[in-house]
Amino acid sequence: MKKLWKIVAFMFVSIVLVACGNTGGGTASSSTESGTGTAEGKTYNVGVAIYKFDDNFMTLYREELAAYFKKLGEETGNKYVLDIQDGKQDQATQTEQINNFINQKKDVILANLVDPTAAGAIINLAKAAEIPVVLINREPEVAELEIWPGKTTYVGADATQSGTFQGEMIAATSNKGDINGDGTVNYITLFGDPANVDAQQRTAFSVKALDDAGIKKEALAEPYLANWDTAKGQEVTAAALEQFGNKLEVVFANNDGMAVGAVTAIEAAGRKVNEDIYVVGVDAIPDAINLLEKGRLTGTVLNDHFNQSHTAADVAVKLMNGEDAEAYYWINYVKVTKPEEAELKPATAKTETTEAIKVRYAERDKALNN
Ligand code: GAL
Repeated sequence: MKKLWKIVAFMFVSIVLVACGNTGGGTASSSTESGTGTAEGKTYNVGVAIYKFDDNFMTLYREELAAYFKKLGEETGNKYVLDIQDGKQDQATQTEQINNFINQKKDVILANLVDPTAAGAIINLAKAAEIPVVLINREPEVAELEIWPGKTTYVGADATQSGTFQGEMIAATSNKGDINGDGTVNYITLFGDPANVDAQQRTAFSVKALDDAGIKKEALAEPYLANWDTAKGQEVTAAALEQFGNKLEVVFANNDGMAVGAVTAIEAAGRKVNEDIYVVGVDAIPDAINLLEKGRLTGTVLNDHFNQSHTAADVAVKLMNGEDAEAYYWINYVKVTKPEEAELKPATAKTETTEAIKVRYAERDKALNN
């Protein structure tokens, strides 16, 4: 009898321990098998600072980010309250918005900085308040990610790759970009924005890919600053067409917005894309895909806002659960010469440490200077 009582007592203690384990272990949600039978999620406050709302690519990104957080909320029972701010391309405005996030004690901050050189100051502020930071779209210096390792991270796409893809698409045309057959590819570049790594790397690596393919090339002018903007892209291309006429064979646009503007200018000047001039962009925004479908754009590169935003949200959730993040999460670009190649499908990010990236970037810079 005594023995039986001991067994019953042991079983009771075991059941209590299992129940405690179930409730105590969960960080994000106290929903399942807590023994109380109630399913209740947690509320998380997420501050999102966007460099400016009036940007084609970042609008796609922002909308997908909000949709994905909503889906995560529905799946987990948690509530993700997003506070998305428009930095209006002004770092002072954005710093104020991020300061507000800090005062409001947000659980995490996602920042698409106006000026990536502000990353250090922002990370220091967030660190003092113990709020993790996910930087997106505008890559900071490696050293900035070493200020608060594990709690700051960059989620993006490697701009070098997008530039290389642009050059490779030109090299893959029937006349390798040399439309007038004079042995040299004469090109112009439409430049996004000087403080932006994407603009710098795309500018350098698009033409490096021509070199690597053994193609002789010559810039007709210094890169035209066009601020990622369609109207500006159109304006500078129109001026270049007037100045260089049929000499101009290739337009490398740092993004699709400017490429679309270039196509408008080219057609207004009575020229035909893919017959007497090539134009390549980056992003795969709907306007560019439309042109591509009609043969009025040579190519673009998918800047995968879908997987970049999902990864940024997943990493933010990880950080809000108290876990550490890797320094870098990379989503691949995709070469697009046919509309179907721009299709969005789930992909896994590649991670990288700050040590590894320093080695890779040193090699990259060496290759560029050779
Ligand atoms: C780039 C994108 C541009 C612009 C820029 C903003 O990745 O290609 O269109 O959105 O980001 O930083």
